[in-house]
This record gives sequence, C-alpha cells and structure tokens, in this order.
Amino acid sequence: MTDLFSKFDPLIQQREALLATGVTDPFSLVMEKVLSPTVAICNGRETILLGTYNYMGMTFDEDVIAAGKDALDRFGSGTTGSRVLNGTYQGHRECEEALKAFYAMDHAMVFSTGYQANLGIISTIAGKGDYVILDIDSHASIYDGCKMGDAEIIAFRHNDVEALEKRLKRLPPDAGKLVVLEGVYSMLGDVAPLKEMVRVSKENGAMVLVDEAHSMGFIGEHGRGVAEAQGVIDDVDFIIGTFSKSVGTVGGFCVSNHPKFEIMRLVCRPYVFTASLPPSVVATAATSIRKLMHGGNKRAHLWENSKALHSGLKHLGFTLGTDEPQSAIIAVIMPDLERGAMMWEALLEEGLYVNLARPPATPAGMTLLRCSLCAEHSADQVGEILSRFERAGKRTGIIG
Ligand SMILES: Cc1ncc(COP(=O)(O)O)c(C=O)c1O
Repeated sequence: MTDLFSKFDPLIQQREALLATGVTDPFSLVMEKVLSPTVAICNGRETILLGTYNYMGMTFDEDVIAAGKDALDRFGSGTTGSRVLNGTYQGHRECEEALKAFYAMDHAMVFSTGYQANLGIISTIAGKGDYVILDIDSHASIYDGCKMGDAEIIAFRHNDVEALEKRLKRLPPDAGKLVVLEGVYSMLGDVAPLKEMVRVSKENGAMVLVDEAHSMGFIGEHGRGVAEAQGVIDDVDFIIGTFSKSVGTVGGFCVSNHPKFEIMRLVCRPYVFTASLPPSVVATAATSIRKLMHGGNKRAHLWENSKALHSGLKHLGFTLGTDEPQSAIIAVIMPDLERGAMMWEALLEEGLYVNLARPPATPAGMTLLRCSLCAEHSADQVGEILSRFERAGKRTGIIG
C-alpha cells in the first residue's frame, strides 16, 4: 500500500525542524479570552491584536451583538438547510438588501463563506471554452474556483497591466473571458491598478470580477473598495467579498448589476449544496454592513493608524512590503522562516500578535509578519506596537 500521506513528508520535516529549535508553534495559538477587537488573552498574557483583519473593529459593536442575540432568540441557532430549500430566512434577505444598499447594486447573493463565493461564482460563470485570466498572486479561493470550473486558466504577472493586456490580446476575440483581480492583495498589502486593468479588460471584451475582501468597509469614499476609490466600480461586473474581515463575522457574497444574475441561485453549486448561515450570523452581518455605510470617521482613523505604523516600522529599520502604506495591511519582510518564527515568538512574548505567513501562501518564497490594523486601535496602542517591535527586533537581531 502506498501511504497517501507520504506527499506531506517534506512539510512534516520542515515543521519538525522548526519546532526542534524550541520556538513556539506559530500555527496553533489559542485566544483564551477576547476582550475587545484589539486585545485578547494569549498564553495567560494580555496581548494587542495586530493580525486579525478585523479592520473596522465591528466584532464588539453593541448594535451588532444585540442583533445577533435577538436573532438567536427569535430564529434559533441554525437553519439546517440550503438557501434554495429551507435555508433562506428573513435575515438572509435583509443581509442581501443591506449589501445592495452598501454597494448601490441591483443584486446580492450571500454565501456561507467568502471562499465559497469565489469557488462558486468563478467555477459557474466561466465554463468550457471560456478563459479565466488572473493575477498570479491571487488568493487560494480564486485558484480553487478556477480548478473547479472547466475554463482555461491564464495567469499574468502580479499587478502588471501590460502583461494582462498581452494575454487578453492573444485570446480568440469571441471567446468568453473573465478577468479576476483583487482590490488589495493580502500578503503585501498592495493595491491593484484597477483603473487601467478594468480598462484593458473591457477594451478586450472581458468581464471583470474583483475580490474586495481586504478593502470593503475601509477603502473608497463609501468603503466599497479599491474599485470605488479608483472610479471604476460601474465597469466591474462582479464584486466578491467576505464578512470575515471588516464586517466582523463570517460569510461571503457577490454583488452585481448583471440583469441575469439571479439565475446563479439555481446553478451555483457552492451556494445550492451547503447549509446557509445561521440567523444570528446574518443578523450581525446586516447590522454591521448598515453601520459601515456611515463609517467615514472610522475609515479616516484607520488610515492614520496605517500611516503611523508604516512610517514607524520603516524608521526602526524594518523592510516592508510596500514603499508607502496602501491599505490596512503592513507586511514586514523576514530574512527566512526560522528568523521569522523567532521574531513572531519574540513579539508574542512582548504581548503582540501578528500573522506569520510563509510559502506557498506568500509571493516569491517570502516569510512575512503581516500586520493588519484596526479602526479601534488607539494612537497609544500604535505607539506601544512600535515599541514592542523595536524590542523584539533588537532581541532577535532583525534590526540593529
Ligand atoms: C482575497 C480573499 N478572498 C477570499 C477570502 C475568503 O474569505 P472567507 O474567510 O470568508 O472564506 C479571503 C480570506 O482570507 C481572502 O483573503
């Protein structure tokens, strides 16, 4: 018998070698208690959270929590069914109405996760004989959506408008084409040149899908994302998003103005063949989305936090993923996995949690400490975060 697990041996060995150095396992941290969107107890210690993607800090919003409790009392703990059978409650509809209002779009479809939204929409709309043209640094859910469908997949160099255009021009003019982009790329926190990319896509007869997972709620005047900020939202055919970041709960969605969009509810397998979100979750999501429509002050404060952290880390001598802050994600580049894990642990000992990211999730084989800021981080907390980075960086020799 061939052990089907033998393909994981290199990863098992890499993990064992890392743990043999005595470092804490960076991928099994437990939050023992969560006190607020920015503070939790980890290993018995009060810890500032800087790696949660809780950009707008909605997880402890009192209206959001009240809506969830009320729905739990009135509708029970779960729907036990698919959206197309017994799993559409009033709350799911209200959540879709909230999304339509948030994006000023005609259609909204709520999925059980953002992962399933990408999986479902991409695999369903791009079929046999069609082409999906995607940025090489796309999220795993986009790649998996491509794998699940029958379209031909063509990747282009990250954020390279010319490369996208070249690929598009090589394709048969009459073939169906879907260009898949992200507003903010979550590894380095860099923003896509959507204005140019949407233009070349349209000039070459392609439909455009933009995943705004890391920009919803924060970027753009109304928080609709990078497509709004760059003035091209009306030319984007499908926006994918998640409730697991700025919205502060769990779930995913697609919004669109396509006149035939509603047919997706019958043909999209990751929508049909899975249970819908619990009533308490859609109630928290709808309340959060409605509040995010009026989140201008929070958005401004989050930009201040992002700029302060970026310039502070740069000043301390860390190498960052972008020259300027482009989003609420600031990526600190580590020399290798071992030293990245050491720095991650040193930060945790200082009472600061960040995400450790390593290949294959990261581009160009990089090890990153990914920091995601929250609108609820105070200026004092950002100052404290910088002091902790300085102490941990000096202790581990990452900075001089
Ligand atoms: C760009 C992008 N798309 C989709 C997702 C999936 O979202 P969810 O957590 O709702 O499954 C993520 C989450 O990490 C993401 O970063």
